Amino acid sequence: MSKGKLEKFAMIKAYKNCVEPTMEEVMKTGIHLKGKWNSEFFKNKNPITVELACGGGEYTVGMAEMYPDRNFIGVDIKGNRIWKGATKAIDKKLDNVGFLRTRIDFIANCFAQNEVDEIWITFPDPQKNKNRRRKRLTNKLFLARYQQFLKTDGKMRLKSDSTFFYEFTKEIILEKNLEILFDCDDIYTKYIPQNPDSQLAKELSIKTFYENMWLEKGKTIKYIEYRLTNLKIKKDERLF
Ligand SMILES: C[S@@+](CC[C@H](N)C(=O)[O-])C[C@H]1O[C@@H](n2cnc3c(N)ncnc32)[C@H](O)[C@@H]1O
Repeated sequence: MSKGKLEKFAMIKAYKNCVEPTMEEVMKTGIHLKGKWNSEFFKNKNPITVELACGGGEYTVGMAEMYPDRNFIGVDIKGNRIWKGATKAIDKKLDNVGFLRTRIDFIANCFAQNEVDEIWITFPDPQKNKNRRRKRLTNKLFLARYQQFLKTDGKMRLKSDSTFFYEFTKEIILEKNLEILFDCDDIYTKYIPQNPDSQLAKELSIKTFYENMWLEKGKTIKYIEYRLTNLKIKKDERLF
């Protein structure tokens, strides 16, 4: 019999690989693991990758299997999706995986300066409606938050089916003169077949739940990798 939501929520509370901070922690004091993910959660000094909007955690788990010497943290607000990823990581006995259930809006209270090496964003909702701009996970407001804990030479890595969201992200990259490390508007036609043995092709071949859905509908998949190193946001600037 499949598990209900309440049962899943109870399970993630008991899971050692799940962290569910209180609103007080995420909004005010900062979570207890801020600056201590390596020393207190993973108990090693390995580099940390954070996957935002991780859903069922396909990237978090897939990358953790690929790189046992790195640590991976999936972040999402939906408990039943976190349960899916966390259960998979437990079944696979992966000790380099964590899941953080919180709103990404408060992410700067979850990690300390320079604590994170990479941020993946996988198939975020494009939030096309103009008055939802503030919700788009690559707008300037969110980038300013990520900059507070991403290492100076750390990478942003976005995989998306949405031309709208990909172009919105690129507009900000160009406006802010950010360094683009890799950019492809159709990875399954223009990059993976030509470079099947590259590490990037292996990473990009991991497919998420939403990705499979979009691929079935014939959408092309875009991927862009960039740095926030030179990001400067003025006080009076429009952030989204
Ligand atoms: C379209 S789904 C993509 C899930 C997964 N990455 C995939 O590709 O299958 C977007 C996910 O982002 C999460 N999400 C969106 N905005 C969020 C926010 N502000 N804070 C936390 N999670 C958020 C949703 O809960 C949802 O699981």
